[in-house]
Amino acid sequence: MALLPVLCYPDPRLHKVAKPVAKVDARIKKIVSDMADTMYEAPGVGLAATQVDIHERILVIDVSDNQDELMVFINPELIWASAEVKAWREGCLSVPEYYDEVERPAVVRVRAVGLDGKEFEVEADGLLSVCLQHEMDHLQGKVFVEYLSMLKRNRISLRMKKRAKELVGQR
Ligand code: NI
Repeated sequence: MALLPVLCYPDPRLHKVAKPVAKVDARIKKIVSDMADTMYEAPGVGLAATQVDIHERILVIDVSDNQDELMVFINPELIWASAEVKAWREGCLSVPEYYDEVERPAVVRVRAVGLDGKEFEVEADGLLSVCLQHEMDHLQGKVFVEYLSMLKRNRISLRMKKRAKELVGQR
């Protein structure tokens, strides 16, 4: 098991755009396995490679109640989104202890490549839909707080910087 350090907002590396994965090989499988370990340990329901400073299009998600249904999305692409929108209270491992409401399409269809190298499609609603959209944003360099007002974002940045300083002080 290997845990990867998670970047914290407002780290500029969270705004890098991830590159597509050319081939699902042993290196990619190792990244996926480390990302899954990191997500479960947090614990979180999703993690994008961007958050662990790997700028390749890879997501791990597990929205199951028992956290025993890992989903892997390599090169995910949004192929359809519903006109209907829904607001969810979102959180993010890169913005610890902060939650806020974001409005997004209620249902989405996503095409991706799995760990077996094969392409698949999912239609998602509820938490999986939110999670997929949130994590795909990360791969584009976008953090959910960027949907909020400038005032809120500035407050969050200050809070995160203060939190980081306190954590260093505790060492
Ligand atoms: Ni996030």
